Amino acid sequence: VPLQPYNSFGIVARAQRLARITDEADIAELLAGPDWQGAPRFVLGGGSNIVLTGDVKPLVLKVEIKGLRLVEETPRAWIVEAGAGEIWHDAVEWMVRNGYPGLENLALIPGTVGGAPVQNIGAYGVELQDRFESLDAIDLDTGRSFTLDAAQCAFGYRDSVFKHVRSGPNDFGLASRALITRVRFRLPKPWKAVVGYLDLERKMEETGNFTPSAVDIFDWVCAIRRAKLPDWRVLGNAGSFFKNPTVTPEQCADIIARDPKIVHYPMADGSIKLAAGWLIDACGWKGKSVGNAGVYERQALVLVNRGGSENPVTGGEVMTLAKAIQTSVYERFGIRLEPEPVVV
Ligand code: EPU
Repeated sequence: VPLQPYNSFGIVARAQRLARITDEADIAELLAGPDWQGAPRFVLGGGSNIVLTGDVKPLVLKVEIKGLRLVEETPRAWIVEAGAGEIWHDAVEWMVRNGYPGLENLALIPGTVGGAPVQNIGAYGVELQDRFESLDAIDLDTGRSFTLDAAQCAFGYRDSVFKHVRSGPNDFGLASRALITRVRFRLPKPWKAVVGYLDLERKMEETGNFTPSAVDIFDWVCAIRRAKLPDWRVLGNAGSFFKNPTVTPEQCADIIARDPKIVHYPMADGSIKLAAGWLIDACGWKGKSVGNAGVYERQALVLVNRGGSENPVTGGEVMTLAKAIQTSVYERFGIRLEPEPVVV
């Protein structure tokens, strides 16, 4: 099965077998099959946060579970449930336009609802964990369904229990072990705008609208993203390729002494987050290429496929470029950048 249509980089790779999961019963059926037990598998959502570096031998489970509904309304929140296979952006738009606001800052993020908790997606001052109620998943070893709350998901910055491989009896890593089927969002009432991010403050100034509605913010976030992030349907990419690194105030002071313009944000825990895009940009990478792997002209944190679908970038080229960037950022700033997508 060709995987090129199923990854946002547009990398060519094949899966030996791909099963579409449209409801829980599809999994039960697979589990009952003869060669399931112990067989490796790979859960695929929107394919917007992966780098395929070769053919995928495990059975690919492509999650296509649909459904969007308000499941509960209390004086303090709306609880909305979405099937893991729903397109993230469409789910956000449906909520915002139907009077369940709260996820508008996360508009236009590629991928599916089921992928959102895996990497705890975040943008413009909101992270998924801020609006998360619970999720349903199936343990692919036993076939049992289970529900996790936010604490059990162990959310971190672009991280969760679903990104970790289980390494021992006390480690609950769920990578390739759990398939997320449904996600419930807690959207607090009364709704409050989150407009602290610089790009959103600029929109308020520009438009003179200082009391934006959720729909206004939704529209602004879409415009901001369209202006600085490439549309993967036009130019393949996997969003930010590296996480923004955190350093101690001492390390930061050290870097500021040499590079006063470095973009940095103080965190609640006292550490300092640096803009990886700025670090990469400062090393002169913006617009550069290695083979068909390129650094996007308008956002150095995004690596892109310059070969289109005709002559697409390979996972190897992407990783070669990524390593070259890591080396130069390390040599100049002493900081190790960590890739953000899952390398398969
Ligand atoms: N910058 C540069 N040069 C660049 C890129 C950025 O100087 O080439 C500077 C910008 O001027 C800005 C700062 O770096 O002052 C931060 O840039 P930006 O606002 O674009 O955000 P980011 O930190 O690069 C993060 C997330 C994005 C998210 C945006 C908006 C990560 C890894 N990335 O990017 O998430 O959309 O903030 O909240 O945390 C993703 O995870 O895939 C993703 C796109």
